[in-house]
Amino acid sequence: MTLPLVGVVMGSASDWDVMKAAVSKLVEFGIPYDAKVASAHRSPELLAEFLKDLEHRGAGCIIAGAGGAAHLPGVVAAATTIPVLGVPMPSKHLQGLDSLLSIVQMPGGIPVATFGIGEAGAQNAALFVVALYARTDSAMRAKLTEFRKAQEQKIRSATLPSVG
Ligand code: RP5
Repeated sequence: MTLPLVGVVMGSASDWDVMKAAVSKLVEFGIPYDAKVASAHRSPELLAEFLKDLEHRGAGCIIAGAGGAAHLPGVVAAATTIPVLGVPMPSKHLQGLDSLLSIVQMPGGIPVATFGIGEAGAQNAALFVVALYARTDSAMRAKLTEFRKAQEQKIRSATLPSVG
């Protein structure tokens, strides 16, 4: 089964340290992706070109990460009907609260599915795509079940240091 491509876009190369957590999960689950730096503020034309290309290639969804005045996911959602998953970057001055609020508080009518700040959010955005694709792809469903089992096993086998 050919899975639809996932677009991954971030406002700056400085976001990559966090956004690579999303990409590495897509790679782990064998989901095709195209990742790019394109800023809503600094390079709006480049962003529009990238979105046009993703539309043309039949992308299934777009994971968009941005920090600070994090308009990128909202601008992406406004420009396309491809579902957008937003990931707030931990920012320098407000620890990502600015990013989170900028992404989550979309006006009614233009949704952005917003995830947690930082690497956990980036990872979960990709795992959310995995879960969606798993609804119609049994191999993906099996991989996701394995992933969940391995995670559970780690917790079951966790030990704590003795005190005193
Ligand atoms: C946003 O501004 C980016 O998403 C990034 O998180 C933030 C800071 O960008 P740089 O100044 O590090 O390029 O557009």
